[in-house]
Amino acid sequence: MSIASSSMATPVDLSHHFSTEARLRQPNPMKAIWKLTRRKPNMVSLANGDPHFSLYPIRKVEYEMASVAEEDPVATWRRGGPSAPSHKLVSSTHEPCALPLQTGLQYSHGAGLPDAQRVVTDLTNYYHAPSDHMCTLTLGNSDGITKCFRLLGEPGDHFIADEFSFSSMTNVPLAQGIKWVGIKMDDGGMIPEELERVLAEWDPARGRRPHVIYLVPCGQNPTGSTLSLERRKQIYAIAQRFDLIIIEDDPYYFLQYDTPDHPTTALSTPFAASFLSLDTDGRVMRIDSFSKVFAPGMRLGWITSNALFHEALVTYTDSSTMHPHGFGQMLITEMMAPHGWQLSGFDRWVRSLRAEYHRRRAFFLDLFAREVSQTQLARATVPEAGMFVWIRVEIEKHPRYRADRRMQSRDVTGPRTNVKELMEELFERCLDGGLVIMPASIFALSADPKYDDMGDPVEDRLNYLRATFAGTEEAMEQGLTILGQVLREFFSEEQK
Ligand SMILES: Cc1ncc(COP(=O)(O)O)c(C=O)c1O
Repeated sequence: MSIASSSMATPVDLSHHFSTEARLRQPNPMKAIWKLTRRKPNMVSLANGDPHFSLYPIRKVEYEMASVAEEDPVATWRRGGPSAPSHKLVSSTHEPCALPLQTGLQYSHGAGLPDAQRVVTDLTNYYHAPSDHMCTLTLGNSDGITKCFRLLGEPGDHFIADEFSFSSMTNVPLAQGIKWVGIKMDDGGMIPEELERVLAEWDPARGRRPHVIYLVPCGQNPTGSTLSLERRKQIYAIAQRFDLIIIEDDPYYFLQYDTPDHPTTALSTPFAASFLSLDTDGRVMRIDSFSKVFAPGMRLGWITSNALFHEALVTYTDSSTMHPHGFGQMLITEMMAPHGWQLSGFDRWVRSLRAEYHRRRAFFLDLFAREVSQTQLARATVPEAGMFVWIRVEIEKHPRYRADRRMQSRDVTGPRTNVKELMEELFERCLDGGLVIMPASIFALSADPKYDDMGDPVEDRLNYLRATFAGTEEAMEQGLTILGQVLREFFSEEQK
């Protein structure tokens, strides 16, 4: 049973999207032999140097997880501290468990152990019901995304992303010789008409037309924006028309909120339809992670893709990270077993978790109204998902703000304003005041003056800051108080 549904796929040949590197990559020959041990039961192996489990200095791992029997398990878990009800699970060599330790901690398959792979496949089927896709376990989304970039990216390629994008990821393929084309956004995320325009007007002299788009559809990092279903459908249709592969990086999928006029996000509030659930061609590579729903240090996630891309990802993993790490795979397998949380318990946890983040968002926004909006020097965009608030600094009100830079410098392509310099100063003042906050500049994809629309360059829109409500109430209180004070002082200075 799943909460999503989709029609059967019409397989489309997407093999032309592979990079030269992916085409040249040879399967790991040792792993090919290793797989033969599963050819029939009771195969004897003298083939692999697998340390025998009796030599592991470990025979049992116990996990004390939150109980999910309660109506709002996250609130009970937080409030109860060490005495909150818990659910104990075990991975062991000798005691009964779903994935014995001797299997979980042994070398294994690049896609992950079959039991753990089944767990993420069940989760994917339940929430997205993709037609004809396969899951490959990863070491989290960073690992998954960068593997997709290697699979698809050729030196000289252009990839597409939001003009403000998660730079931890967009910086990575630069070293592969890939360039980014940023698409304009509004409060609802990427503007589909802008995407279509960029692709339709693509000048072949610039290189081949982009064939990959990287998107964070829910609670985008850094802007917090969420793509509506209508935009998702429009973007998917554009991807079909221009033959794009969509890398759907969705770590905040489970943190989708009701609007702030609701006191909380109801447990029954549905999750938005993912690109994966809309995919009929196999052109979506969906990237999921346990980082935001369990813990980032688990380093566990998964990619859902068509079978062809799955095979290539496994071949790559078999020769690089080898496989996802054992402890995480053992934990999720126990969690989903009949004696664990099971899928219903996982679902209760993630729905309760988003109610908790809804409370944190409300706390942040109330404080923001009191400490920052009052100054009338900045305003917050309310995020529908995720853990970030995108703060617009009303930089035009600054006494030293200038919008005539081009006239002064006679440069027709550069920024028109001095927003960049003023925001750099503001950032330094925040640091002096004791506050670290993310400046928009580190997320901006720079445009190519030769080709991109330079009438409205991104440098003139750097007057934003990214703040998170993931931390403690104390950090939010102190941080927003400092921000309000710094803004007041920065804007009240005399014109030099
Ligand atoms: C948009 C986005 N993608 C990926 C990641 C990294 O996720 P992981 O911890 O699974 O590598 C983050 C973490 O902040 C993120 O915000």
